[in-house]
Amino acid sequence: MKPTDFLTIDDLRARAKKRIPKLAFDYLDGGAGSEANIARNRQGFEDIVLCPEYLRDVSERNQQVTIFGHTYDAPIGVSPVGLANLIWPKVDSYLAAMAKQRNVPYTLSAVGTTSIERIAEIAPDHAWFQLYMPGQEYICFELLKRAKAAGYNVLVVTVDIPIPSKRLRDLRNDFTMPFKMTPKIIWDIARKPNWALATLANGKPRFENMAPYIDDAAAGKSLNAAQALQVSPKLDEDLMRRIRAAWDGPMVVKGILSPRSAEAAKRIGADGIIVSNHGGRQLDSAPSSIEALPRVVDTFGDNMTIMLDSGVRTGGDIVKAYCLGAEFVFSGRSFVFGVGALGEIGGSHVLDLFANEVDLTLAQIGCTNMAQLGAEYLWK
Ligand SMILES: Cc1cc2nc3c(=O)[nH]c(=O)nc-3n(C[C@H](O)[C@H](O)[C@H](O)COP(=O)(O)O)c2cc1C
Repeated sequence: MKPTDFLTIDDLRARAKKRIPKLAFDYLDGGAGSEANIARNRQGFEDIVLCPEYLRDVSERNQQVTIFGHTYDAPIGVSPVGLANLIWPKVDSYLAAMAKQRNVPYTLSAVGTTSIERIAEIAPDHAWFQLYMPGQEYICFELLKRAKAAGYNVLVVTVDIPIPSKRLRDLRNDFTMPFKMTPKIIWDIARKPNWALATLANGKPRFENMAPYIDDAAAGKSLNAAQALQVSPKLDEDLMRRIRAAWDGPMVVKGILSPRSAEAAKRIGADGIIVSNHGGRQLDSAPSSIEALPRVVDTFGDNMTIMLDSGVRTGGDIVKAYCLGAEFVFSGRSFVFGVGALGEIGGSHVLDLFANEVDLTLAQIGCTNMAQLGAEYLWK
């Protein structure tokens, strides 16, 4: 099959589902609780209607957007996805290389499966680093030092995992890190021989950044390793101020849904926020990110760079987010579905889909660039 046979992110998702074990697919695709928040993220975008405007010259269009001093060629980047190489070997490296080649941002997760240093070599000017506060504080500051030494400019601190969420699919699949090789899991993997061979050839995915500290992170906790590395019940404003003081580049707080939390982010000195519900993986009863966005923009739009992720699956969604005041947009699953479906070229195909749909939507509503988008293009 050719990439052009896949016309939507859903087409790629369906192909990825066929190629990878259920345990890995469910880890990527699933969310918290009943997954109502995942559905709400999509519904939120679908409920927004755009107002087309004609009788304008739209023959010259471009999608460039400048944030934190860098002009990107598309209005969307890659959200951090932990353990991505479980979905298909080398996901992190493929997506980082795509980001460099296509001039978009790629965010490496603190619980990524490729090291901070390796991603900086692949995409020195396009990689952002995302930090979690692990069980032991010193690990966080070590990671910051490594990210700075490797040349990362933008730091993203994720704040929406005070404690682990209840992800039913993972629980039902007995999914923990490190893997327990139960008969059910062995059977699951045996049914996807291409994935099994590729994974065997590349080595079992592991938390490359956390590897030196993993025993410390999990010490004294009854959590599995993956959870112990991410959970931060003590991440308050004081700790955030110390993180701020340790980072001299732009700092972005990810996982904000309310003006009150946005205000806290502003107080601690954040340069930007990502309005996000972690793709529906944390609080099942949370609002969709697109419905949370306008309130945050109304209160802080002039003071911080406001970005969004969670549920973005089309170029139309991207345009809607910009109309509501987002200054940049990200997606996590879309890009990983792309690699799961098509391998190395998958990320680039996802970006093509998004960029083509943004272009089409801009022309239909009578706009020629992202800066023109605003509330006047929303059908009220
Ligand atoms: C499998 C998976 C792993 C994730 N890991 C992280 C992570 O390590 N750090 C983080 O800040 N967010 C993580 N997220 C959340 C994403 O960064 C992003 O907020 C979310 O995927 C956006 O929603 P979307 O997948 O609908 O685009 C993860 C999401 C998924 C699906």
